[in-house]
Amino acid sequence: MDRIVVHKCGPLNGSVRVPGAKNSVLKLMVASLYAPGTHILTNVPDISDVGTMGRLLGALGVDVRHDSNDPDVLFLVNSGDIRTQAPSELVETIRASINLLGPLLSCCGHVRLDLPGGDDFGARPIDMHIAGLTAMGVEFDPAKDHIEARAERLHGADIVLDFPSVGATENLVTAAVHAEGLTTIRNAAREPEIADLCSMLTEMGAQITGIGTSTISIEGVPRGSLVPVTHAVVGDRVQAATYLASVAVAGGDVTVTGSRSQHMEVLLRRMNEMGPEITAVPGGVRMKSDGYLRAVDVQTLPYPGIATDYKPLLMTMLAVAEGIGIVTENLYPGRFRYVEELSKLGADIRTDGHHAIVRGVAGLRGAAVSAPDIRAGAALVVAGLAAEGRTIISGVEHIDRGYDDIVGRLRGIGASVERISVDAP
Ligand code: EPU
Repeated sequence: MDRIVVHKCGPLNGSVRVPGAKNSVLKLMVASLYAPGTHILTNVPDISDVGTMGRLLGALGVDVRHDSNDPDVLFLVNSGDIRTQAPSELVETIRASINLLGPLLSCCGHVRLDLPGGDDFGARPIDMHIAGLTAMGVEFDPAKDHIEARAERLHGADIVLDFPSVGATENLVTAAVHAEGLTTIRNAAREPEIADLCSMLTEMGAQITGIGTSTISIEGVPRGSLVPVTHAVVGDRVQAATYLASVAVAGGDVTVTGSRSQHMEVLLRRMNEMGPEITAVPGGVRMKSDGYLRAVDVQTLPYPGIATDYKPLLMTMLAVAEGIGIVTENLYPGRFRYVEELSKLGADIRTDGHHAIVRGVAGLRGAAVSAPDIRAGAALVVAGLAAEGRTIISGVEHIDRGYDDIVGRLRGIGASVERISVDAP
């Protein structure tokens, strides 16, 4: 029962390094299913979702361990004896468990999974995953409470996605690795984390072209032909954005390293329009802010647009900016649940369907709030930096799913923030 306690502070100064991305490492871990032997991932974030995925893979036949001398390094030892039925209690904890579909079908021709969990943003359908896999010859059991699918050998297909879904793109790429012939995915998602997965699969022996573009082609290679590799996880652009938003609201001069500025181009432009001075520096981004922000409008879009995962951070910045900003959520209509929590800190936000109108206020005031999900939780920590008095955030376990020591990293740049344990009621 931990809480994060934040006091108004600033200016923040110094530098902070972010580790590898949650939304990459979880999928890279799953890639270990393709080849017996020892796979090594470096730049691995210390987040609870990595532990959950490790246990999930353990139940399937891949032993996952941190290097005892270097916690950023993960060893994944594939025993060569892979099971295709995943335990429900783990599948239900993380969204990325859906990423088992493609690799298990590709390698073993069968998968049985309960419906995946993850953050609750309203309905999170998987119709595009199913339609694409069906086009590749997979047969789905019509049961409604779980997913069971088979294919003796998948075949290539030409698939056009209705929407550039991250998860569907990843599952179709991974399913195609051992499919017979050529698979082409059009209107594919282009997130850097997908390019990272494709790069690792290519290093392992998969034949993938169009990496990082909206048309990805995969020429199937025989089962058993992939080999284990050592791969560094791409830097976490959402964690990087979190520290930049912190400097934006608290003021200061901070360099955030570990994530590439090219992966955040549109976000950085929008943050810059709000006032802070932003420059790309070797290995990262430097932000100088005097804490004064002006409102802009924001809409979330697939990459390279402004990611939905950045939105709670931008809403926090808008909450203390001069003027009115209109925020449009185009990915998850239900992803405004934290507005109620930001309002407890004095933010003036009205939502209407997938829009929010944020009227900047002169100052926030500390209060007890609860993190409803990973990114919203981090945004409440950022809001606390700009709120008079003390902000106490519960629901810290959500933040732990995707943030590697947010408290220590913020303290390192001078923020007044601590993590405390409280007794369960
Ligand atoms: N969608 C469908 N049908 C599908 C698949 C998706 O309608 O078959 C819809 C979704 O309901 C949603 C939109 O398409 O409205 C986008 O979903 P997408 O598949 O792109 O997202 P995801 O793979 O479920 C990943 C990240 C999310 C991130 C989104 C969007 C992981 C584990 N999750 O989810 O990350 O918000 O992409 O960028 O990679 C987070 O890290 O906090 C997080 C929620």
